[in-house]
Amino acid sequence: MASVLSFFATTTVLALFIFGCCSTANAQLSPTFYSKTCPNLLTVVRTAMNQAVTKERRMGASILRLFFHDCFVNGCDASILLDDTASFTGEKNAFPNRNSTRGFEVIDTIKTRVEAACNATVSCADILALAARDGVVLLGGTSWTVPLGRRDARTASQSDANNQLPPPTADLAALISTFSAKGLSAQDMTALSGAHTIGQAQCSSFANRIYNEANIDPSFATTRKASCPATSNTNLAPFDTTPNSFDNDYYKALVGRRGLLHSDQQLFNNGTQDALVRTYSTNVAAFNRDFAAAMVKMSQISPLTGTKGEIRSNCRLVN
Ligand code: HEM
Ligand SMILES: *[C@@H]1O[C@H](CO)[C@@H](O)[C@H](O)[C@H]1NC(C)=O
Ligand SMILES: *[C@@H]1O[C@H](CO)[C@@H](O)[C@H](O)[C@H]1NC(C)=O
Ligand SMILES: *[C@@H]1O[C@H](CO)[C@@H](O)[C@H](O)[C@H]1NC(C)=O
Repeated sequence: MASVLSFFATTTVLALFIFGCCSTANAQLSPTFYSKTCPNLLTVVRTAMNQAVTKERRMGASILRLFFHDCFVNGCDASILLDDTASFTGEKNAFPNRNSTRGFEVIDTIKTRVEAACNATVSCADILALAARDGVVLLGGTSWTVPLGRRDARTASQSDANNQLPPPTADLAALISTFSAKGLSAQDMTALSGAHTIGQAQCSSFANRIYNEANIDPSFATTRKASCPATSNTNLAPFDTTPNSFDNDYYKALVGRRGLLHSDQQLFNNGTQDALVRTYSTNVAAFNRDFAAAMVKMSQISPLTGTKGEIRSNCRLVN
């Protein structure tokens, strides 16, 4: 009996040890982390994001995507912001990012202003987490309270960026397992994919879908083909009909078989997520609630806290 108990105790400890890295429960983050050391932080970030999104609406989307690509590669640690150098290969030229992720200059501007307000105090990882939330709000989406206290990585991994970010060719099982590996449920995955209610994709990301797939509205495919040849190019197309509004039109598009990426339509393809997609397509409050909760979860993937990592003074370079 004792040995059975000790077996279970050992197994539990082992499981905690093995899975503890990626669970969100152990995150030591707090929304009030900078309330004494940088009381104007939220205002500085919001003001700068307001200017950036006013100048170009798409920037709200681009910054949200940057945050996703940061968090999914070894946690929300600003690793995606590091530039390549002669002796360092970061994540910016990984396949999911190269010629695709954008908004780095906006983060630089915010960082400069944050440094002027509170020198050497706020991490680039926290700035990105706040900026992503603000982009959603500025495009008419829901809000959430951002847990803070992340620190910045001193490293980045191009191969992890290549392996851990889902490609647009992923099918439903792959999408579910990619998110599960980060401690996110299938429901979280379906809600977070609603980020594709804003922003645009390049023809190369969806050409195969519009030319070769069956689960697609034919007139939608025809429309998209007009600016996206089968050989593919870099022309942009919106994910839904309102790419500058954070609404639930993305899910309406999926129900109408007008998902832009193969991975988008996988969420409504006679599979386990169909019912949830239908719900989000008719109930924007349910989508907003689940999206906000999933963003808070995603924002807490493996943060560096305490004395780990550093507070970068330039988001592009380690100190
Ligand atoms: C579910 C798996 C996902 C896949 C396979 C995926 C894939 C993609 C691809 C291929 C693009 C277009 C890139 C290009 O053509 O240059 C894109 C854009 C975008 N993604 Fe995702 N994504 C996923 C999930 C997410 C999540 C979870 C978020 C944020 C929470 C997100 C936010 C965005 C945004 C906002 C854009 C538009 C960016 C812009 O216009 O600059 N995506 N995604
Ligand atoms: C893609 O990115 C690389 C490196 O950033 C750049 O040299 C190249 O011109 C870009 N290609 C296109 C088609 O934009
Ligand atoms: C800001 O902090 C950095 C790093 O600690 C330091 O090198 C720099 O002198 C500080 N700048 C100001 C204006 O205090
Ligand atoms: C989904 O199932 C229905 C009913 O069996 C069928 O008519 C439809 O073609 C299926 N759609 C896909 C994308 O498999």
